[in-house]
Amino acid sequence: MAARKIGILGTGAYVPQTVLTNKDLEQIVNTNNDWILERTGIAERRIAAPDETNVTMGVIAARQALDAAGLAPEDLSYIILATNTPAHYFPAGAIQIQEALGVNGVLAAFDLQAGCTGFNYGLYVAERMVAPEGKYALVIGSDTNSRFTDWTDRSTCVLFGDGAGAAVVGPVSRGGIIASFVTSSFNLKLSCETEFNAEVSPFVAPTTTTERHFLRMDGPEIFKFAVKAVKESIKRIVEMANIDREELDYLIIHQANNRILEAAARFAGVPWEKLYVNVNRYGNTSAASVPIALHEALSEGRIKPGDKVLLCSFGAGITWGAALLEWS
Ligand code: ACO
Repeated sequence: MAARKIGILGTGAYVPQTVLTNKDLEQIVNTNNDWILERTGIAERRIAAPDETNVTMGVIAARQALDAAGLAPEDLSYIILATNTPAHYFPAGAIQIQEALGVNGVLAAFDLQAGCTGFNYGLYVAERMVAPEGKYALVIGSDTNSRFTDWTDRSTCVLFGDGAGAAVVGPVSRGGIIASFVTSSFNLKLSCETEFNAEVSPFVAPTTTTERHFLRMDGPEIFKFAVKAVKESIKRIVEMANIDREELDYLIIHQANNRILEAAARFAGVPWEKLYVNVNRYGNTSAASVPIALHEALSEGRIKPGDKVLLCSFGAGITWGAALLEWS
């Protein structure tokens, strides 16, 4: 019997109301609109309200995805929340989303942390969980990056924003996921981390003296890694799918920096017109980046049935991954 085809049945996205522009940032740190636009392509980003969390944002995106798929929460067997910014240590944010959706008895609801690659990791896991029995999974990427942003550090605070995206994953009669992979590696040169200190974490020995509970990273090194990761991901996925790269119809790549997208497209030999770009409006929303971009690309009619669509991301860890879908 042929393997069951698994695809994305519906998507959703949410970004907070509050807009933080580059002009606003000029009032906070020593930066300017021209530098940010030229080096990153980012014009503004969204900032979560005090009562918003990765869970509240995720629930809104999740409901939209379920509606788009024509499914009810009761149809779900799995809920996977990819996040780097949990509002609670436990219970898992995925279980809080389960509670908000009012559905008991899913087979598993859990969180997953893979930096900005979280959604690709979630999709990879979901595909393998739902395939054997033809069940449905909800994969959500949701991050409140503004909460670990050091607003005195101009080299990082201009880059990030908050948001959530979601997708319902399940059996499809045609198309679906053709190939996918995820990878992790460590590289001491590629620091991108948020380390807790004892003041903010009960799990850190109180003798620690570190104050590094904000995100820190080596931007230029990560830039080089990101371009290489996208280029190699495209090469690997077209080999796995046994297609030519010209057959890729549309590319949703992690929205970290417009220059990373430009360089990756150039080195991978992919026309710029095939890439979706919203980093200008939201900055880097980490695990939410790919599902928000996918949802917007679908809403704008940029993806048509039969299109071969690449979802590709890279992030802290380091992690990277990609999935190729034939849209159905
Ligand atoms: N405003 C004005 N000047 C700035 C700012 C700012 N916001 N930030 C840095 N500068 C200055 C620096 O101090 C430096 O000044 P100097 O030459 O006098 O020392 C100058 O601009 C150049 O700094 P670089 O860091 O070399 O600038 P670069 O062109 O590399 O851009 C950036 C920096 C935007 C961070 C880029 O390297 C980048 O986007 N890297 C990828 C980061 C990323 O996306 N990380 C997260 C996703 S991936 C993950 O999670 C692993």
